[in-house]
Order: sequence, then C-alpha cells, then structure tokens
Amino acid sequence: MQKYTTFILAGLVIVLAAALAGTLIFMNNQPAQSRTTQPIVEIAPLEPESELWGRNFPNQYSSLLKTRNNSLDTTFGGSSAFSHLERDPRQVILFTGYPFSIDYNDDRGHEWALEDVRATKRVNEKTPGTCYSCKSSNNPGLWTEMGMEAYDKTSFSELGKHLTESIGCANCHEAGTMRLVVTNPALKEALERQGKDWTTYSRQEMRSLVCANCHVEYYFKGDGKYLTLPWDGGTKVEEMYQYYNEAGYKDWEYPEALTPTLKAQHPEYEMYTAGSTHYNAGVSCADCHMPYVREGASKYSMHDIHSPLLNPELACGQCHTDTEAVVRRVSLIQDQVYNTKVATEDAIVDAINAIKAATANAASDPDLLNQARELHRQSQYYWDFVSAENSMGFHNPEYILKVLAESTNLARQAQMLAAQAANDPSLLEIGTYYSSQETGAVLP
Ligand code: HEC
Ligand code: HEC
Ligand code: HEC
Ligand code: HEC
Repeated sequence: MQKYTTFILAGLVIVLAAALAGTLIFMNNQPAQSRTTQPIVEIAPLEPESELWGRNFPNQYSSLLKTRNNSLDTTFGGSSAFSHLERDPRQVILFTGYPFSIDYNDDRGHEWALEDVRATKRVNEKTPGTCYSCKSSNNPGLWTEMGMEAYDKTSFSELGKHLTESIGCANCHEAGTMRLVVTNPALKEALERQGKDWTTYSRQEMRSLVCANCHVEYYFKGDGKYLTLPWDGGTKVEEMYQYYNEAGYKDWEYPEALTPTLKAQHPEYEMYTAGSTHYNAGVSCADCHMPYVREGASKYSMHDIHSPLLNPELACGQCHTDTEAVVRRVSLIQDQVYNTKVATEDAIVDAINAIKAATANAASDPDLLNQARELHRQSQYYWDFVSAENSMGFHNPEYILKVLAESTNLARQAQMLAAQAANDPSLLEIGTYYSSQETGAVLP
C-alpha cells in the first residue's frame, strides 16, 4: 500500500511539473500584449464599432486605422485606387457590356471599403444589398438579426442606411474570446456543402480562412441575389467553371458576340490554396500580410494590412534571410505573369472580334459558332481568375502561368472556330490594335 502511494505521489508530481512547464512555454509563445492587457470594456457579441474593441486592444485598433492613410504603390499593387481600365485598355474591351468596363479601380485599405463601394459607378438603383457583404463590420450583426436571405433581398440604398462602419474587428474576431471566426454565412455554407466544418480548423488554417470571409470568388444566386461561393465541386478554376456551367449561370451577354460571359472576383484564397509553395509549406495569409511588430514591451499582429512589398523586412524577413533576393524574385514573377496575361488578353480580344464578325454573318454555321462562344466563355473566365486576383501571380506562380496558358489556347481555338463557322480566313488575323509587340510589356 505504502509503495503504491509513493508511486501515485511521484506520478502526480511529474504530471504537475509537466503541466506547469507546458503553461510557461505556452505563455511565452503568446504575444506579450495578451498577457498583460486585461479587458477594460465588455464587448457585446458582434459589436460593430471597432473603436470599442480598440479600448481593450489599442495597438491592433490603431494599426487597423492606418489602412485609411496608406497610399504608396508598388509596381502592380499598393494602396492607391488606380484605374485598371486606364492602365490596361484591353480590359475595357474584355468587359464591354458590363459595369466593369466603366469603373474598375485597384483595391486599397480596409478602412476604405464602405466608402469605395458607395462611390463606384458600378452601383445603380438595381444593385442588390448583397454588394455590401464584404464591406462592413455591421454585417455579422445584421446577418444574425435579419438572416442573410433577407439581407440579400434588400436594395443597396435601403440596406446602406444600416451600415456605418467599414471593415472591423467583428468581421474576423469573436468578442470575448478574440478567436478568429467565419463570419460570412456564404463561406460557412460553402464549406458545409464540401463536408467541411471550420470549427475544426487549426489556428494556422484560421489565419488564412478568416480572409476567405471576403477574398474569394462568389456570385449572386437566383432572384434573391443570394451570396454563394461556387465551391461545391472544389476551388480550382476548372472546378468552379464547371459549377457555373452546371448552374447555367452567366454574369452578362457579351454584346454582338452573344457569349454568355462570367466575371471572376478576387479569388485570392482559392489561388493561394491551389498548391502554392507557401501554402504547402504551411504559411498563412496573416504571416505575410499581418506580421508581428514590436513596440516597446508589446508584440502584436500588424492590423495595417497592405502589400508586403512595402515592408518586406517584417513580412518576409521572419522566414527569409535574404529579403532583397526574394523581393527581386517577386518582381521577376510579376513581370512574367503580367506579360503573359497581356498576351492572353490579345488572344481573347481576337476571339471576340472573330466571333462578332461571324455572328454578323448570316451564313455562319450556328453550331460551330456556339462552340466558339463556349471556348470564349471559358478562356475569359480563366484569364479573369488570374487578372482579378490581386497579387499579379505571386500567390501561386506555377498555377497562374498554367491557367494563363490554357486561357490563351482556348481563345485561339475560339478564334479558329469562329473563322471556320463563317468560312472566312480573314478572321484568323492576329491582333491589329493590341498586339503585345505594341503595347504589351509596357509597365505602368
Ligand atoms: C508568402 C507571402 C504571402 C502570402 C502567404 C499571401 N500573400 Fe498576398 N501578397 C503577397 C505579395 C508579395 C503580394 C504582391 C503585392 C504587390 O504587388 O504590391 C500580395 C498581394 C496581395 C493582395 C493585393 C495587395 C495590393 O497591394 O493590392 C491581396 C488582396 C492579398 N495579397 C491577399 C492575400 C490573401 C487573402 C492571402 C491568403 C489567401 C495572401 N494574400 C497570402 C504576399 C503574400
Ligand atoms: C481582417 C481580419 C481582422 C480584423 C478586421 C481584425 N483582426 Fe485582429 N487578428 C487577425 C488575425 C489574422 C490575427 C492573428 C491571430 C492568430 O495568430 O491567431 C489577429 C490577432 C488579434 C489579436 C491577438 C494578438 C495579436 O496581435 O496577435 C488581437 C487582440 C486582435 N487581433 C484584436 C483586434 C481588434 C481589436 C480588431 C479591431 C480593431 C481586430 N483585431 C481586427 C485578423 C483581424
Ligand atoms: C470583411 C471582408 C474582408 C476581410 C475579412 C478581409 N478583407 Fe482584405 N479587403 C476587403 C476589401 C473590400 C478590400 C478593398 C477595399 C477598398 O478598396 O476599398 C480589401 C483590401 C485588402 C488589401 C489591399 C490593401 C491595400 O492597401 O491595397 C489587402 C492586402 C487585403 N485586403 C488583405 C487581407 C487579408 C490578408 C485578410 C485576412 C487576414 C483580409 N484582407 C480580410 C475585404 C476583406
Ligand atoms: C512563415 C514563413 C514565410 C514567410 C513569412 C515568407 N516565406 Fe517565402 N517561403 C517560405 C518557405 C517555407 C518556402 C519554401 C522553401 C522551399 O521549399 O525551399 C518559401 C519560398 C519562397 C520563394 C521561392 C518559391 C519557389 O516556388 O521557388 C520565394 C520567391 C519566396 N518564398 C518569397 C517570399 C516573399 C517575397 C515573402 C514576403 C512577402 C515571403 N516569401 C514570406 C516561407 C515563408
């Protein structure tokens, strides 16, 4: 008996010592601030006002506010809202018949989201409230109160009356625990349809998934304009394209070519997670876009989210010793992707011109012409999947170049079929106005 008691006591001591060591190691790995800051203000669930959360977490709040004042640009990105249409006039042609041909500016800081969506000329009296889904920390509360179905059915102007805050804490964090959460019902539902449960994701996975609340491909489903991610068959470009085909969905009909065309939207999450080197190595969006910063005794995640090329020592330097070398590498990748993308655009413009001419020709073979339109639809979606993604290739260079190669091939096939449909070899001509010799490779 005596022997057993000694054993049990010794065992207990070992367990307690291990627990203590574990706790110390854990605490040591937490950002300094979360150790020292006691909540001052009780934050209500889904509280839209970041300023209130900010009283408990002043560093995160003040760095988030900086996204309002950022204006520095990089070669292809950065924080000014430059016009994509002015930089690359081919896009005016590619989006003809759709509001993106009128107004299409580069993204900027999170603090601008609400104002920018109100200012875009793409919004009109028919715009659904759904367009507000990624712009405001009022949303999580509204979705809980009224349900996303009713939210999406409300008009843009009506819904706007309830939105006062740009993107904020409630879009990414749960009040109280401060854990990262899925706040957008469309993301939750898309994951569920794939048989995935986000609450089982690791912390590192959440450091990327939280961005997928917004930085993803989506469409407005049905008359209720229900926000939907086309992820049921997977998140690769061909899987999402097939989803749209099965749904019989189009964003608009291309004028005179009559192609049922699709518009892709900022698929950063899908592109990054499609087997990129960094994703495979377990790196998250927050690692590059929200690196830890030290100020005095505190260490916290920089909430001033912007292009990592503006602070590469912090953003890349935590893992790469030669920061200059990796930044040079980014520049090489982006130049190559840009030039390839321009060549793809030329090919699609040629396809569009050929299909327009064949459509105007009453003698054209309708079956061949429809096949040409289908190839145009696919090639344009593949191109836009790259073009609407905001990293100019960096997030996943190999995959992006493969998608562009397929897109160019599809576009040239579309052109050939249109020429065949009209039995008109002159439609095989290659880009008169927009050849890459003339305008391609010209950087902004
Ligand atoms: C390995 C580092 C790294 C990771 C991981 C990463 N990014 Fe990026 N991201 C970059 C770089 C570099 C750029 C290019 C910036 C430029 O051209 O100025 C960029 C560009 C962007 C841009 C456009 C920025 C601008 O200036 O317009 C957005 C938006 C973005 N990333 C979101 C994401 C999201 C969302 C994820 C995760 C799904 C992610 N990034 C993962 C490095 C990274
Ligand atoms: C766009 C999403 C996003 C928004 C908006 C956001 N955060 Fe965070 N926050 C993150 C991510 C990602 C982390 C890193 C979490 C991790 O490593 O587990 C983080 C970490 C934190 C932490 C943990 C300590 C640290 O710095 O790593 C605190 C506290 C915090 N945020 C507070 C806030 C407050 C307060 C706001 C609003 C003023 C806010 N956050 C807005 C994404 C966001
Ligand atoms: C609630 C929706 C939402 C969430 C969540 C979100 N973003 Fe954004 N993000 C946006 C919108 C909208 C814009 C464009 C705002 C504008 O141009 O007015 C943007 C812009 C950006 C930019 C461009 C900033 C610049 O200065 O050019 C980067 C980089 C970015 N987001 C990265 C991230 C990362 C990384 C995460 C996850 C940690 C994330 N975002 C989470 C909606 C979101
Ligand atoms: C959290 C760690 C981490 C961060 C932050 C990070 N990287 Fe990396 N990076 C890696 C790892 C891991 C690899 C893969 C190394 C390997 O497999 O040899 C890698 C590979 C690369 C490569 C080579 C890719 C290839 O396909 O050959 C480049 C270029 C690169 N990183 C650039 C950057 C840039 C630019 C930044 C900052 C914007 C950055 N990285 C931030 C961890 C990181």
